[in-house]
Amino acid sequence: MKHEDIIRKMTMEEKAAFLSGKNVWQSRNIDRLEIDSIFCADGPHGVRKQAGAGDHLGLNASLPATCFPTAAAVANSWDEELAEEIGRALGEEASSQEVNVLLGPGLNIKRSPLCGRNFEYFSEDPLLSGKMAAAYVRGIQSQGVYACPKHFAVNSQERLRMSVDSVLDERTLREIYLEAFEIAVKEGGAKAIMSSYNAVNGVYANENKHLLQEILRSDWKFDGIVITDWGGSNSHVKGVAAGSNLEMPAPGLGSARELLAAVENGTLTIEELDSCVDDLLDAVLDLTAGQKKGKKSFDVKLHHELARKASQESIVLLKNDDNLLPLDSGCNVAVIGDFAFIPRYQGAGSSIVNPISLETMETVIKDAPINLVGCSKGYKRNGKEDEELKKEALALAAKADAVLYCFGLDELSESEGQDRSHLEIPGSQISLLKALAGVNPNIIGVLSAGSVIEMPWQSCCKSILHGYLGGQAGASAMVRVITGEVNPSGRLAESYPMELSDTPSYQYFPGKERCAEYREGIFVGYRYYSTAGIAVRYPFGFGLSYTTFSYSDLQVSENGVRFTITNQGSRDGREVAQLYVSGPGGRIFRPEKELKGFIKVPLKAGESRTVEISFDDKTFRYWNTGTDRFEVESGDYTISIGASAEDIRLSEIITLVGTTDVQPYTPEKMKSYYSGKVADVSSDEFESLLGHPIPSGKWSGELEINDAFCQMYYAKSRLARLVYRILNGLKNRSEAKGKPDLNLLFIYSMPFRGIAKMTNGVVSMEMAQGMVLIVNGHFLKGMKQVIGGFFSNAKENKAYEKRLSGK
Ligand code: BGC
Repeated sequence: MKHEDIIRKMTMEEKAAFLSGKNVWQSRNIDRLEIDSIFCADGPHGVRKQAGAGDHLGLNASLPATCFPTAAAVANSWDEELAEEIGRALGEEASSQEVNVLLGPGLNIKRSPLCGRNFEYFSEDPLLSGKMAAAYVRGIQSQGVYACPKHFAVNSQERLRMSVDSVLDERTLREIYLEAFEIAVKEGGAKAIMSSYNAVNGVYANENKHLLQEILRSDWKFDGIVITDWGGSNSHVKGVAAGSNLEMPAPGLGSARELLAAVENGTLTIEELDSCVDDLLDAVLDLTAGQKKGKKSFDVKLHHELARKASQESIVLLKNDDNLLPLDSGCNVAVIGDFAFIPRYQGAGSSIVNPISLETMETVIKDAPINLVGCSKGYKRNGKEDEELKKEALALAAKADAVLYCFGLDELSESEGQDRSHLEIPGSQISLLKALAGVNPNIIGVLSAGSVIEMPWQSCCKSILHGYLGGQAGASAMVRVITGEVNPSGRLAESYPMELSDTPSYQYFPGKERCAEYREGIFVGYRYYSTAGIAVRYPFGFGLSYTTFSYSDLQVSENGVRFTITNQGSRDGREVAQLYVSGPGGRIFRPEKELKGFIKVPLKAGESRTVEISFDDKTFRYWNTGTDRFEVESGDYTISIGASAEDIRLSEIITLVGTTDVQPYTPEKMKSYYSGKVADVSSDEFESLLGHPIPSGKWSGELEINDAFCQMYYAKSRLARLVYRILNGLKNRSEAKGKPDLNLLFIYSMPFRGIAKMTNGVVSMEMAQGMVLIVNGHFLKGMKQVIGGFFSNAKENKAYEKRLSGK
């Protein structure tokens, strides 16, 4: 143990209480031993420190901070140096606000474009997600602040996010859903990890020994702290036994009492308790000492410029017919769209940042070297069509040489706590786009959306620039690209399918009852489209530039690849070269190709450069469930260099000798997986992949402590069903207003246990159990437990507080 001396001095009460938060954001201090508390704050694209009333939903105001583009945007830059620079700036801001742990980056895999939090995550690909996340982590931690990559693990849907059980096979877990975390830990050196709300194969992530001990601590040698997601602890005793160090936010002393009782009755050993205390102590001492040396202020202007650079590097040029872009200085331009006036620059939920400043297109375009003919709102962002607005916009468009049409997903479409049900942009925006295309042939679509959309309307635009959610300086970044001051170099970090029904998890997402079945296995995103031969609108890795690049002279060695890229045009630009590997087919099923490396290369007009990408331990590996480890298969591998997953420019074959002959699969029982056509996997095939029966996941009988409020439609009690109907009504009403009600969304999918975990000790688990009895129709018994629990909880809390204060 690292801090045996201190642990020896701690009382059992102190140790048990130390492992959970004292309020929404802080750990407990022990003044007697001069142990301070640490402050945690979101988040991934800007610091959200709530100096006043705290909540974890982005409801109450936080201190102003730089709002960088969200992870979904920055992933398009494919630029690890940039990600590290952003990380450093985040770390500086956190340090200057005395925040010790920054709750990010978010790196869950975009299993389906419908996940409501995709705007907060990097990619559908684990390597790209992991490399970007590791760079953020290095940057943040360089400032004496811990990064806290989240949500570990397999947390790829918002529906029932606090209770759902993600059911998947070990290979998919390791290759797709864990690899990004592995990179963030091994290459980023993450010192904290946030465990996710959901269960993984039947065991809550926060108490999952396979995830937290066998993989995170043993395999990856993680020696930092595990923090629960807010309200994400199911059993604190099991969490501590699995090595989860800090239960957040503030469950009150009930959780601590559970630990004491567990040590007493032998379900938790004193060594397990001490080991968790030791890790947390180490972090607290390290962070509080570091805070004294950390930065006390930051350069607001420089960070705004960095936010702009981040957005510039991440904008993706999807289409540019007739080289309409960049616009010439004499061009008469109309700016149309509500988004030009009220930008969409971040998503809703716990990641929400109170930006120091906020640019709008309507303002910054006035300084651009073009001839502005006017700005018009054109549509109501999520409402019905507005004929007046439309008329005005069409008249303006008719006067211009080109139209910048600012549109995209509205606020309601991208929020924590809620998945989308479709991939469409609100109809009023599209009907205006179609009308505009009728009066002006030069429409430049300027998109703001943090996740994938269907684009059946794309022929209405001659050019399309996708800015994702570009942060507080996104508008000027976009204008620089439009006018050619910046040559776009963003490449999509996710595939754009033709339509939702083409996505591999279409039939399985989101899991509706207790289980989310990951039947598509490893075939996520381009891994599916390229293997199953499904045409997409825009492939993974795609993005145009105002110049063109050619590739030549591929040399493949044992250690990596070397090739030459040439900028063939007359403008400087940056190309993202991507290394894909295709394994030998047949014996072990695998995707047609997988990303195994990338490099972003700046090239002056006409310049050629020879670059290298090294192979590493992940280049050829696959998880073999027979040997229970990563193996390499014998055979021929195609090594490809591409400008996207579908634009392969160079390739060569190499032959490898494998590491095992063990065949973990019975191919004739897994035809879908062997063909990659996983859109409709039968239960038998999925069971064959899982290696065990599919858990039922159906409700039968009574609701349990881990069932969510929104499942009260199953309740026996009429009162509970009424509460469900009221909740649902409120939710529908808030949706009709066009803005997500985060409080309501949180409560909607909160399990009953959350009442005890989120009320700072006012409600105990015993009382929460009593409420479940009431919901199940046992009114009197339940009420007795709630009332009795209330008094005993208050008494025990008081006695505990007294012992803690040493009085
Ligand atoms: C979110 C986390 C966030 C935490 C604290 C949770 O609801 O899932 O991502 O860090 O709240 O705000």
